[in-house]
Amino acid sequence: MAEITVRSIRFPFAGSVNLDRPGPELDEILPSLALSMTMPYLEPYLIRTMKVALKEIGDPVLAEDVRRFSQQEGHHFRNHALLNDEIREQFAASIAERLRGIEEALEADYQRFSRSKSLRFNVTYAEGFEAMTCAGALAAAEYGAFDRPDMLPGGDIWAWHMAEEIEHRTVAFQVYEHLVGSYPYRITVGTWSQLHYLRYTSRFARCMAEGLGHKLRRPRSPMHRSALRRYLRTWSPRYDPAKIEIPPGVDALLARFSKLAEAS
Ligand SMILES: [Fe+2]
Ligand SMILES: [Fe+2]
Repeated sequence: MAEITVRSIRFPFAGSVNLDRPGPELDEILPSLALSMTMPYLEPYLIRTMKVALKEIGDPVLAEDVRRFSQQEGHHFRNHALLNDEIREQFAASIAERLRGIEEALEADYQRFSRSKSLRFNVTYAEGFEAMTCAGALAAAEYGAFDRPDMLPGGDIWAWHMAEEIEHRTVAFQVYEHLVGSYPYRITVGTWSQLHYLRYTSRFARCMAEGLGHKLRRPRSPMHRSALRRYLRTWSPRYDPAKIEIPPGVDALLARFSKLAEAS
């Protein structure tokens, strides 16, 4: 059984988003804000998928992990929805409206996937997304990105969310192995899913950059290279998130957020 703690936390976001930053900082920040914009649609889709998957999961230990996974994702997207309200307010009405349009298109895709795609497809989308974000979260933890809560607008939401993504990293993979198990299907449909998701984050980021009059450049740093390396390892037929070594500091972060949840 994975050790997954459900932490009910609501972060304060009022006044936490300031996009009056130098270009190189915007190159780091906007892709993260784009990620935030997807969460109120992506994470409910994962929860709907896991609700259907639960009916097929015979293993009670995995079923409990899935329930905790879904509860964590529920707290994630509710916080991101609040942060996103602050993000939209930073832009002129025309840009905020375009952001809303991208949100609606993404939600329509996910509702359609839940309605008309197979459980096999939806479980693979979930695993593809989780494997990709976990690679990014591990690289961020490795390079101490969570030690600088002022780096990204929204503060501690990022450290909390990414630490919990690391904490529940095995769940979607184990559900995939339990219900589907095919390596070629994981790679083909999983990669398609990641590209589908990244097309939306790219649309959000470009729209926000345009609103700020900024030309977005791909940030290149040791952390980004580590994220890419970690992502490429997920393509191995021997990939298993349970075997990944967790960077130091993640357990302490999780303990800090457990305390915060208990206090709130
Ligand atoms: Fe999440
Ligand atoms: Fe997740």
